[in-house]
Amino acid sequence: METSTAAAVLISLVFSVGAQAPVLSMEPRVASVQQGESISFRCRVAGGQQPIQLEWRKSNNQPLADNVKIGPDGSVLTIAEAQPSNQGQYRCVASNPVGRNTGSAVLNVRYPPTVKLTPAGPLRVRVGEPVSIECHGTGRPRPTLKWKRQGSTLDLVTKATDDVNTIEWAVVRLEDSGMYVCQAQNNEGTTEVKVEVMVQGGHDAPLALVTVEEITAVQGHTVTMECRASGSPTPVVTWSKLRAPLPWKHAVSSGILTLTDVGRQDSGQYICNATNTHGYSEAYIQVEVESPPYATCLPDQVRLRAGNPLQLQCLAHGSPPLSFQWSRAGREALAPGAETTRDGRLLIAQVKVTDSGTYKCVATNHIGSSEALAKVTVKSEFRIGMDCLLCSLLF
Ligand SMILES: *[C@@H]1O[C@H](CO)[C@@H](O)[C@H](O)[C@H]1NC(C)=O
Repeated sequence: METSTAAAVLISLVFSVGAQAPVLSMEPRVASVQQGESISFRCRVAGGQQPIQLEWRKSNNQPLADNVKIGPDGSVLTIAEAQPSNQGQYRCVASNPVGRNTGSAVLNVRYPPTVKLTPAGPLRVRVGEPVSIECHGTGRPRPTLKWKRQGSTLDLVTKATDDVNTIEWAVVRLEDSGMYVCQAQNNEGTTEVKVEVMVQGGHDAPLALVTVEEITAVQGHTVTMECRASGSPTPVVTWSKLRAPLPWKHAVSSGILTLTDVGRQDSGQYICNATNTHGYSEAYIQVEVESPPYATCLPDQVRLRAGNPLQLQCLAHGSPPLSFQWSRAGREALAPGAETTRDGRLLIAQVKVTDSGTYKCVATNHIGSSEALAKVTVKSEFRIGMDCLLCSLLF
């Protein structure tokens, strides 16, 4: 009974002391160094059955970098002049015939920020274009990013996310030209990168552009003419009319010429002139003002003897093409001997007394129509004969 107990104790001692898996401790377990500093980790074997083999690995089984060396007895790992890429977890794996154990250490490498700009610049842009420059910052701890104008201490308003700070202009102006600085800062230091923004357009000749080149308007209406001028400095826009002053009823406001209550005399060519220190540019608009006809008869009263020819001319002002229509007041049709022409004439080769009456001319174009009257009085030959008889009697 006693001997069996003693044997059991002996067996457990052999297992606990002689046949034990490796027992490890790691020093230090966590380290933080500046970039360029050196650091050693020691994997200390506190127990376990000999022989014990030690092996160092980086997490994820990455190979050890060239600046990482292992001491002669395998227990010390030294990182010479640590780089950011050396950051991570290191594991020491100890194995013997009984088993294996792992100790681990974490290395943190602090480094001052590095900055990359996209695009790197210098940037040449044109007035009015959108511009954006991204500043990417890396560093440990993570740096804060700011944009400034060179020579100014004010932080510019920008769009920032964790690693990127973007300076942007929806519409860049001439005065935005200059040197801009992205500053990245953490506990390890401050890094600045400059970029030059050159806004071009300071030497732009003017260019005048009209939205339409021909305008047709109806008499009495309003006509609006728009001229857009580009150039730098911003051109001054003036309006004029070819070989004539601008109509009395006109107004100009921010490059727009407005004519109210237009008449036929307002037809013609209008000129927009954009002028700046580099020159001038002209653009033209042809305006046609259309009017309804205004008709008159020539003559508007006629007295003649039967048998003589009658000729009436209808005259009309108004936009062409004009058409004419003759009729006789109170009658459905003209007398059979009457003849009309396209240019507005009414002809009767030999008038009769019954041709007396009021004649109407209607002039028409695509805008409207107008009518004019002529009064025709035909005396009989007999009456004329009598008159002549009287004349002859008088003389
Ligand atoms: C336009 O302006 C320029 C410069 O002021 C001038 O020389 C030119 O005659 C102008 N053109 C018209 C049509 O007024």
